[in-house]
Amino acid sequence: MLDLVTAVRYVDPLRAGGSVPGVVETDDLGTYVVKFTGAAQGRKALIAEVIVGELARRLGLRVPELRLVDFDPAVAVDEPDAEIQDMLKASAGLNLGMDLLPGARDFRPGMIAVDSVEAGRVVWLDALTGNVDRTVHNPNLVAWHGRLWLIDNGAALIFHHRWAGAEAAVGKAYDLSAHALGGSAPDVRLADEELGPLVTVPLLEEVVALVPDEWLAGEPGFDSVDAVRHAYVTHLAARVVLSEEWLPEGFATPEQLREAERRRAARTRAGRPAWLQEVPDLHGKPSVETVWEHHFDEG
Ligand SMILES: Nc1ncnc2c1ncn2[C@@H]1O[C@H](COP(=O)(O)OP(=O)(O)O)[C@@H](O)[C@H]1O
Ligand SMILES: [Mg+2]
Repeated sequence: MLDLVTAVRYVDPLRAGGSVPGVVETDDLGTYVVKFTGAAQGRKALIAEVIVGELARRLGLRVPELRLVDFDPAVAVDEPDAEIQDMLKASAGLNLGMDLLPGARDFRPGMIAVDSVEAGRVVWLDALTGNVDRTVHNPNLVAWHGRLWLIDNGAALIFHHRWAGAEAAVGKAYDLSAHALGGSAPDVRLADEELGPLVTVPLLEEVVALVPDEWLAGEPGFDSVDAVRHAYVTHLAARVVLSEEWLPEGFATPEQLREAERRRAARTRAGRPAWLQEVPDLHGKPSVETVWEHHFDEG
């Protein structure tokens, strides 16, 4: 199991993320970003955080330390937002804590140098684990002390949302042309050669064992928690050797990304009256679903 700490103070919600994690102080004098079991994303997002985060760490990628956080909603009675209160009240017990990286900034392409080797490793891991949330608009990566850190792996392992179809999806291709690191020329082939052989059954068993029983219990179609753990290990062990089927290709180059951005800005300007032409682009963040390819297809 991951180390267990106890929440002593709920400091603030992090509203940037859809699941509204909270900054929480704990009895080990730590400050963690806590992802709650009562959030809409549910405990499967936390299972993915543990399995993928700890796998990433063992493969040499940077992931903040993870802890189990025993949370009593009484420590957060001062939180005024009613919706957040409901979520916190539904989260009594074990939640997931990720070490807070103070001053970390959400990654944007070009913000820090990420070479093709490192980019390739992140993309490779995302492809192996089917992470659908590592896009230019929702990178779930931060820059901290000039380096890249993986802070949200909750949208990986999508197969666990429908176990009945998991076996058929084991070699499923990974298409994420809008990947946040697509502009860094990710060397996914090199990553596959280097990291693939490291993802062994014992390593997978080790990381899957870190998930607390209570998040796995009661999964429909399984007799026991051990059977669920076994299913994760089997799926990932089978997938890792099928990389020829799922290795992603065809990322947008930095030039293509810039060109897509230029066209988007031009479209925004075209829709404005003359007196608004000189106003800076106030366009909000495009939706998560935005796929750069759609932009490329247009004129
Ligand atoms: N460990 C961390 N250290 C610093 N900032 C973090 C950390 N984890 C998350 N954040 C900040 O909070 C935001 C939302 O976190 P995230 O885990 O992506 O939540 P969600 O599950 O809601 O998407 C991130 O974009 C980042 O700015
Ligand atoms: Mg996120």
